[in-house]
Amino acid sequence: MGRKVRIAVLVSGGGTNLQALIDAQNSGILVSGEIVCVISSKVGAYALERAKNAGIDAVTVPRKDLSPEDFESGIVKTLEAHNAEVIILAGFMSILSEDFTKKYSNRIINVHPALIPSFCGKGYYGLKVHEEALKKGVKVSGATVHLVNEICDGGEILAQKAVSVKDGDTPETLQRRIMEQAEWKLLPEAAEKLCRRILNEKKPETPSFTLRKWELSDAEALAESTNKVDRKYLTDGIPNPYTKADGEYFIKNMAQKQEADGEGIFYAIEVDKKIVGNISVEKSSGLRSGVGVIGYYLIPEFYGRGIMTEAVKMICAEAFEKLDISRIEGTIFEPNIGSRRVLEKAGFELEGVLKDAFYKNGKLYNEYVYGLVKGE
Ligand code: GAR
Repeated sequence: MGRKVRIAVLVSGGGTNLQALIDAQNSGILVSGEIVCVISSKVGAYALERAKNAGIDAVTVPRKDLSPEDFESGIVKTLEAHNAEVIILAGFMSILSEDFTKKYSNRIINVHPALIPSFCGKGYYGLKVHEEALKKGVKVSGATVHLVNEICDGGEILAQKAVSVKDGDTPETLQRRIMEQAEWKLLPEAAEKLCRRILNEKKPETPSFTLRKWELSDAEALAESTNKVDRKYLTDGIPNPYTKADGEYFIKNMAQKQEADGEGIFYAIEVDKKIVGNISVEKSSGLRSGVGVIGYYLIPEFYGRGIMTEAVKMICAEAFEKLDISRIEGTIFEPNIGSRRVLEKAGFELEGVLKDAFYKNGKLYNEYVYGLVKGE
């Protein structure tokens, strides 16, 4: 089986739709995608238990404790840490902003428990939808899976299924019938279709980039680019300039000095004459002789296009040739999964995980140590 599309499922409650997705994954209905994380907007949602039972990473971003901005940026960070490509709203009871839906345009689907355009839009969620349907006296209702855009329940309809309303239905009995007969079937099928479509899309080519030596006149551009990187995701051994002066210090006293001493190789990564990242291999000093340490960053708009994998391969080949080393080490802190995949694709192997690497904001970040041995 080849690559699978990485799916994040957003939930707020019981998570029966999440369960339907997990079951579909186990029974071979959902094969083009895999659920890599579940994000709950509510502390203690039972959906989180379902995720854990299935061995899926489960994260809570508590909406009621956060500002709308922090809530969404918390979700985005989790999505990025998991390299999620598709987002499935499965009983997710918040409306996402235009910024968010644009960022993941055509990549978010939602299941709504009615036949859109009936009983939908702001305020129509959960049981409320069924209460309104019964109040109106409709004889059929059902479920809709649709793409999510900036209009609440307004994106392109992907699938719909009608379900009969029965005499004596309560909101609860109608909800259950719609789930069983429509939602739990439609949602996994639509997820599979979307993932399959993504796998068949042509991959964007790696943009042409160059590696070139740092010059003092790059100080400002260096500071600017590092400031675009989420500092949490920075790997070990890379510069941290925030200002032009920090940039100058790095170029003069680290990059140029180590190059001159044969202690390291430092490159600016350039696309269209613009600095978009940095990559270096520095010789480890002292007891660990013969070891080089790789560090890099790229500004987020160039993620996922193969630049870093190529750059890592190039600098490692050069470092083995020019520096007196036989092994290159890369250290990645959780949750920087994107960076781990770069090293893996460039031939590095996971050598160990340092538990208790560090503790920040009440979360434990493990340290993943990767190694590449000369001539392998
Ligand atoms: C489902 O019926 C889903 O369609 C609905 O909430 C329920 C969640 O159940 N979603 C909405 O109303 C979104 N506007 P679940 O947590 O058991 O999947």
